[in-house]
Amino acid sequence: MLLSDKTIVLGVTGGIAAYKALELTSRLKKAGADVKVIMTRSAAEFVTPLSFQTLSQNRVAINMFEEPKAWEVRHISLAKAADVIAVVPATANFIAKAANGIADDMLTTTVLASKAPLLIAPAMNTNMFENQITQENIERLKSRGASFVMPDVGRLACGAIGKGKLADIELIFDSIAYLALKSEADLSDKKIVVSAGATAEPLDPVRFLTNRSTGKMGFAIARAAWLRGADVTLIAGRHTCPELNFVKTVNVTTAPEMYSAALDAAKDADIIIMAAAVADYRPAEVKKSKIKKSAGAEEIRLVRNPDILAELGKKYAGSKTIIGFAMETENLLENAAEKCAKKHADFIVANNLRTEGAGFGTDTNVVSIIKKDGTVTDYPKMDKSALADIILTEAVS
Ligand code: C5P
Repeated sequence: MLLSDKTIVLGVTGGIAAYKALELTSRLKKAGADVKVIMTRSAAEFVTPLSFQTLSQNRVAINMFEEPKAWEVRHISLAKAADVIAVVPATANFIAKAANGIADDMLTTTVLASKAPLLIAPAMNTNMFENQITQENIERLKSRGASFVMPDVGRLACGAIGKGKLADIELIFDSIAYLALKSEADLSDKKIVVSAGATAEPLDPVRFLTNRSTGKMGFAIARAAWLRGADVTLIAGRHTCPELNFVKTVNVTTAPEMYSAALDAAKDADIIIMAAAVADYRPAEVKKSKIKKSAGAEEIRLVRNPDILAELGKKYAGSKTIIGFAMETENLLENAAEKCAKKHADFIVANNLRTEGAGFGTDTNVVSIIKKDGTVTDYPKMDKSALADIILTEAVS
């Protein structure tokens, strides 16, 4: 599991978004982390410590002066144990105290006493957030190495619409994971280009030809590479995945657009992973206005799209690691091996559309990796995120 040997100290301060930290606790636990929650007294007015205790399976710390259960100074032991301290949600009050070295409760004392990376996800009323003093405090903490996941614009508890809504929990989770894994990042000297999703080839202003790709595999690779410290460029066609805010993303629609974005990004890349489902053909002509029903049935003439992977293979085989995907309905291994040779790829990740748990839209995949030297490795059904790590490890081995 992603965070199995990590301890995350989760600070919860007193805002209405405190209940969202429950979801974060359970997300961190599911990833294998040991979660130790510290609540401020006002946070405990919003959500009961028992909820956090139940989800984290650890005693929740609030009071600096409670009877010690073991012979330890709690704020010091938490400060030492933390791989990351995440404060979610963080109030303006907490940010002000942390920025000024004030340590007047369990959370601020632990933060001051710890050398662990600090991640802060503010949530508050827009005026409080935009107040010059809060902004200065944020800048001060940033200049001392704290990371922030900034709030979104949305409808706030006070009724106002503005900036101050706690960022998406999945985004906060990823930022915590990134910091927790930073010391063991093995791809920090690698530049990786990943393509994902489907291309869409327009026929007229309203219609286009596309395919069933959702982008899940490519997005999982881009995320895993980022978590392992790589400099990632994601070239995304049509997809249904949440944006990876922290990854450089170039959004494209057509195969020719994907072609130029990929060739451009590939120039200084070490590893190229083409997971997108690129249309092989596009309409020869894109009509300026909507094709009318009254025009009657018409044949659509198609022209070939560039083969991005083949082009990159021709240019960079031997100097960069090149990985392609193959999705077939029959003769999977033979076709994938042929593709690997024809496109000058180092390896092809082949998935059979007819296998249960593989292919478009699923969270899992069942693949074989076919290398240019002819070796074939079959993998069991697994999460696309686990497979992403295998592909990356193969790419650097
Ligand atoms: O030849 P086929 O389309 O089956 O090959 C699939 C692999 O080639 C995938 O890695 C896909 O991203 C890539 N590809 C491409 N440009 C195309 C067609 C496929 O890069 N026009």
